[in-house]
Amino acid sequence: MVSSEMNIVTGSFGYTGRHITQRLISAGKKVLTLTGHSDNGSLFGGRVSAAPFNFDNPSELVKSMRGADIFFNTYWIRFPYGQETYEKAVENTRILINAAVEAGVRRIVHISITNASSDSKFPYFKGKGLIEEAIIHSKMSYAIIRPTVIFGPGDILINNIAWLLRRYPVFAIPGSGDYCLQPVFVEDVADMAVNCACQEKNLIIDAVGPDVFTFNQLVSLIAEKVGSRACIMHLRPGLALFLSKLLGYLVRDRVLTNDEVGGLMDNLLVSPGPVTGKMSLAHWLTENKNIVGSGYASELQRHYTY
Ligand SMILES: NC(=O)c1ccc[n+]([C@@H]2O[C@H](COP(=O)([O-])OP(=O)(O)OC[C@H]3O[C@@H](n4cnc5c(N)ncnc54)[C@H](OP(=O)(O)O)[C@@H]3O)[C@@H](O)[C@H]2O)c1
Repeated sequence: MVSSEMNIVTGSFGYTGRHITQRLISAGKKVLTLTGHSDNGSLFGGRVSAAPFNFDNPSELVKSMRGADIFFNTYWIRFPYGQETYEKAVENTRILINAAVEAGVRRIVHISITNASSDSKFPYFKGKGLIEEAIIHSKMSYAIIRPTVIFGPGDILINNIAWLLRRYPVFAIPGSGDYCLQPVFVEDVADMAVNCACQEKNLIIDAVGPDVFTFNQLVSLIAEKVGSRACIMHLRPGLALFLSKLLGYLVRDRVLTNDEVGGLMDNLLVSPGPVTGKMSLAHWLTENKNIVGSGYASELQRHYTY
């Protein structure tokens, strides 16, 4: 890629998209972000221009994308809320893909999830599978990156486990807790995205870190790092989800979703393939034990308060 090339990134002011954007800017690329937070333009010192998603006005979307070489797509919803449903998120993503094709974008780098499948019984994983199929059948060359749980500064899931462990005397694990996950560092995901953008061939790779934990081990590790003395107990998944709903009223968020629990318990957040991320969560937690979980990270606040 030459430095004058323009790249489109969804969510440059969000989480994964922010790290991808940082790399592109450092390499001298121009970035236009599609976002619901276009008022955050001062981040990156004004070096990122912003346009709204315009899902209901695809011709504007095409205009925003015209001239771009690569489209980094992170857009997705963590859970249905109000008028936002997984079906609508799939449809919106199709609109993004079609607009990119019409605008002449050469390559898409798409952030999916491990074990995405259009046959999945979990709507999150099914929606992601449908989008992968749409990308594979589009006219763009593609790199599909499939992360497990992403951790790093500003993450939601690992941070909020730490927050709960710091704050409450009891922590509930859904079911036996002997299902596994293989967290990946956000900087590793961003490195993979930018490296894959430079390649020509179509790729599908899992973004998975070097540590595989059972959920029991993960919770114990985080508890140890943040000095929690919470009593860790096991509850039926339905009861754990119900309690997370009650907690959600307190923190005004959706703390945990059916698909997160189901996906975890079905071992969908581990990869049968090679390790592709470098940073170990255990190491990162040691380095960040004083800050991880010091505040609650709210998905609803991030995406529904503008
Ligand atoms: N975080 C994880 O642990 C994890 C794990 C596996 C896979 N992934 C996948 O990685 C990608 C990036 O995840 P992330 O956590 O970094 O996401 P994020 O930055 O919070 O959001 C990514 C993009 O989606 C948009 N978005 C998110 N929720 C939305 C909503 N409810 N309504 C409208 N727009 C919404 C954001 O809009 P704004 O630009 O307005 O913020 C942003 O452009 C996603 O596709 C996700 O499925 C994430």
